[in-house]
Amino acid sequence: MNILILGSGGREAALAWKISSSPETSNLYVAPGNPGTSEYAVNLHYHPLDFEGLAEVILAKEIEMVIVGPEEPLVKGISDFLLEKFPALHVIGPSKNGAMLEGSKDFAKAFMQRHQIPTAAFRSFACGELEAGSAFIRSMKGKVVLKADGLAGGKGVIICENATQALPQFEEMLKGKFGEASEKVVVEEFLEGIEVSFFVLTDGKSWMLLPEAKDYKRILEGDKGLNTGGMGAVSPVPFVDEAFRQKVIDKIINPSIQGLQKEKISYKGFLFIGLMNVDGEPYVIEYNCRMGDPETEAVMPRIESDLTLILASLRDQKLEEHQLKISPLTALTVVTVSEGYPESYSKGYEIRGLDKISEALCFHSGTKSTDDKGTVVSFGGRVLAITAMDKTIEQAREVAYREVNKVCYENIKYRKDIGTDLLKY
Ligand code: AMP
Ligand code: GLY
Repeated sequence: MNILILGSGGREAALAWKISSSPETSNLYVAPGNPGTSEYAVNLHYHPLDFEGLAEVILAKEIEMVIVGPEEPLVKGISDFLLEKFPALHVIGPSKNGAMLEGSKDFAKAFMQRHQIPTAAFRSFACGELEAGSAFIRSMKGKVVLKADGLAGGKGVIICENATQALPQFEEMLKGKFGEASEKVVVEEFLEGIEVSFFVLTDGKSWMLLPEAKDYKRILEGDKGLNTGGMGAVSPVPFVDEAFRQKVIDKIINPSIQGLQKEKISYKGFLFIGLMNVDGEPYVIEYNCRMGDPETEAVMPRIESDLTLILASLRDQKLEEHQLKISPLTALTVVTVSEGYPESYSKGYEIRGLDKISEALCFHSGTKSTDDKGTVVSFGGRVLAITAMDKTIEQAREVAYREVNKVCYENIKYRKDIGTDLLKY
């Protein structure tokens, strides 16, 4: 099968690594990819939002399956666009309606409400509803969570210590702090607990659970500082025991998939459910219509089954014929970033030592080749995602950091505490 992966980060590198290992994969392309993906695939210079350009390349390269990495093309309807042009194409990623679960937080919350899926109590307010929203906020006790309704590149959530702090933020948001994305704002109660990411693959009829992961979102050790795209990941997550997993299945996954069916929303792809474990009870923090980054870099190495075969079963809703074999090892991913990230940072620094990495997987996130001699420079906030696999979190940490220490570039920075919070379980 000829396969095209869309995107250019660590997630797409991990997907390309996994998909390229399948005997079912003939030619693998990534658009636009990065120097790391070119180790497993051929990079094509197309942007994931250039739908027309992608349609041309799909014809030219006789692509049979497209795996959509990031959310934006899905929210903008790439799945519907491609399927209208090529009805037989395998498209891994939901329809525009399905992607609304990520594209509109208000839609996602209302969906959860319709299907009795546990989530934080909330109300949504549009531009003209500043007064009503402010009154609602004043009635809230404790921390207040404000969420821009639309896509805001992971920056659209503000957690306020109390109503007084929340009021001016709420006003700024409704007045366009995040542009169109915050023309509507979801105001919700704060949930106290530990977060975990669940990944579901569905063909719209049945579903399969992929390994879960914990993401480390804050820039500083001890979960302090600004929110980032993700500074590391661990899979499996020790506090996810059978009882918790079963609750997630019964209270969240089944009603979510059945809800999509009842509402006739076409969904063939990954559903990423961000959960809060509140005293052993799962609550949905958010849905995403794609895999997580950097979670994918920890999840893919644990999948032992042929993922190409499994993904190829989605089109004709034959997922139920497959089972997933998962490695019992722990995968631990450390993301190296550019000093300054998630705010402004410099890039373009030569990365040395990549060839010395021997015991871990090194997925490129934000890198660029500058010549044809193999020189690679940093080209993003998040630069590399290095994943080690071992029997325990301690051992995986040891290997991961030993390998991370082999690479260097001028403004390298990374968290040294990935996984340490999980050692107590
Ligand atoms: P989101 O973009 O929805 O994933 O939100 C970003 C982050 O904000 C989440 O990963 C959580 O850490 C935090 N968050 C969002 N909603 C809540 C909530 N209701 N209670 C506590 N933390 C939250
Ligand atoms: N790591 C969180 C995300 O991909 O949204």
